[in-house]
Amino acid sequence: MTTHHTATVTATTTGAWIPGDGNGPEIAAAVRDVLAAAGAPIAWDEQSAGLGCIDWAPNGLPDATLSAIRRHKVALKGPTATPVGGGHKSVNVTIRKALELYANVRPVKSLPGVTTRFANVDLVIVRENVEDTYGGIEHMQTPDVAQCLKVITRQGSLAIARYAFELARAWGRRRVTCVHKANIHKLTDGLFLTCFQEVAADYPDIASDSALVDAVCMQLVTAPERFDVLVMPNLYGDILSDLAAGLVGGLGVAPAGNIGEDIAVFEAVHGTAPDIAGMGLANPTALLLSATQMLRHLGQHGDAGRIEAALTATLAAGIVIRGLGGSASTSAFVQAIISHLPDAIDAAASGPQARIPAAPAAPVTPSTAWVLDGVDVFVECEGVPQLPEAIGPFVLRLISNRGTKIYPGPVPDIRLVNWHRVRYIAQGPVTDDDVLALVAEVGRHYRWMHLEKLCQADGTACYSKAQGE
Ligand code: NAI
Repeated sequence: MTTHHTATVTATTTGAWIPGDGNGPEIAAAVRDVLAAAGAPIAWDEQSAGLGCIDWAPNGLPDATLSAIRRHKVALKGPTATPVGGGHKSVNVTIRKALELYANVRPVKSLPGVTTRFANVDLVIVRENVEDTYGGIEHMQTPDVAQCLKVITRQGSLAIARYAFELARAWGRRRVTCVHKANIHKLTDGLFLTCFQEVAADYPDIASDSALVDAVCMQLVTAPERFDVLVMPNLYGDILSDLAAGLVGGLGVAPAGNIGEDIAVFEAVHGTAPDIAGMGLANPTALLLSATQMLRHLGQHGDAGRIEAALTATLAAGIVIRGLGGSASTSAFVQAIISHLPDAIDAAASGPQARIPAAPAAPVTPSTAWVLDGVDVFVECEGVPQLPEAIGPFVLRLISNRGTKIYPGPVPDIRLVNWHRVRYIAQGPVTDDDVLALVAEVGRHYRWMHLEKLCQADGTACYSKAQGE
């Protein structure tokens, strides 16, 4: 049935509008034109972020922008540039973390008229959005050794797993796959996987399984149709969503939503595309599909469905933009979409229908039952550190270099760097004062730069072994 629509939602919603850097302003303007032509009842409040405001907001994110997102509760954002190496932190990461937008939802669906190696991809990547290495907690331990902390929490893992299952239910999906590397990252990814399994038990109507991230990469590029909803820690999600975008036509068609408890920011997966910025060639599809994801989040399924149908009709009519194998410019492509709007079939029912309820916060587990086992002290030293066998109530149990055991026993055939983990284990109950005395003694021999308490809970060590231990 073809319907000539007028917007069905009467109340006008407000949203923050953040054009961003590079190709951002071009695609943001294009999307705004389509939304306006569709009659989507949204009043936009334009805000800045990225390089354009770096002179007066050194982190690229003015307070006013953050306040506007908080006020409106939704935002549509163009990409913003992040310098590699030095410079300011990623504006996106800052927004996600500042607003606790814990779920990054990236639908990956084959589009008609967009020819790729696969015709029937239809999966959703649910990426944990605030934890993992994205805390950006990094230190130079020595002039030669950099370290980044990968932080996975029980609360964060439970929340994202529950979100993935709720999404599967709401979007009519059948299976959720947990993507991890728990064979190597036994504690961090192990916790993520355990939390997933715990949550899966509450959703007997949705199938669940798990797979190693490396195996998933291979399967995605050979048989992507076998996946439905995939949930994963932040870094794997960052990488796999670009990979998955490549399955359906590239970054120009990959949308995303960053979802929090009551705030959501929608943006394309792609970046500022400096190679084509300002040339009128950028594909607005990714941001347009992010916008329809936003409309559905707001309950405006009719407008979302019509815009998606107009996009589909445009692609099916052979109007293909540069980057997808065609020659249409951004503006020609947008005009074609707008021209298809009046005849667009109301495809509302074909899209995901419901806003996903936020997961209730999981209770904090107290560490009162934890027993101090010993300590890992990280020291700077060329060659194998020579340290006392015993210091106070501790005995020297292990020295490892980049995770490989070099003491006790023969030093394996590895390239030693000047950064060692020295593990002292307590011979009885110990206190923090004992730990500090140990560190002071170690410090008399070598410069130390990092300290980790070793604990056990109910006889289980809460720390990893060294390779070869
Ligand atoms: P990119 O996504 O900007 O570009 C990668 C390739 O995809 C380029 O060849 C580009 O021309 C193409 N491409 C991207 N968007 C396109 C579109 N809409 N239409 C047609 N082709 C498109 O990734 P890159 O070059 O690694 O990053 C550039 C900048 O973007 C960096 O500063 C990075 O930090 C930032 N970035 C920002 C993101 C965000 O704000 N959400 C996400 C990813 C990167």
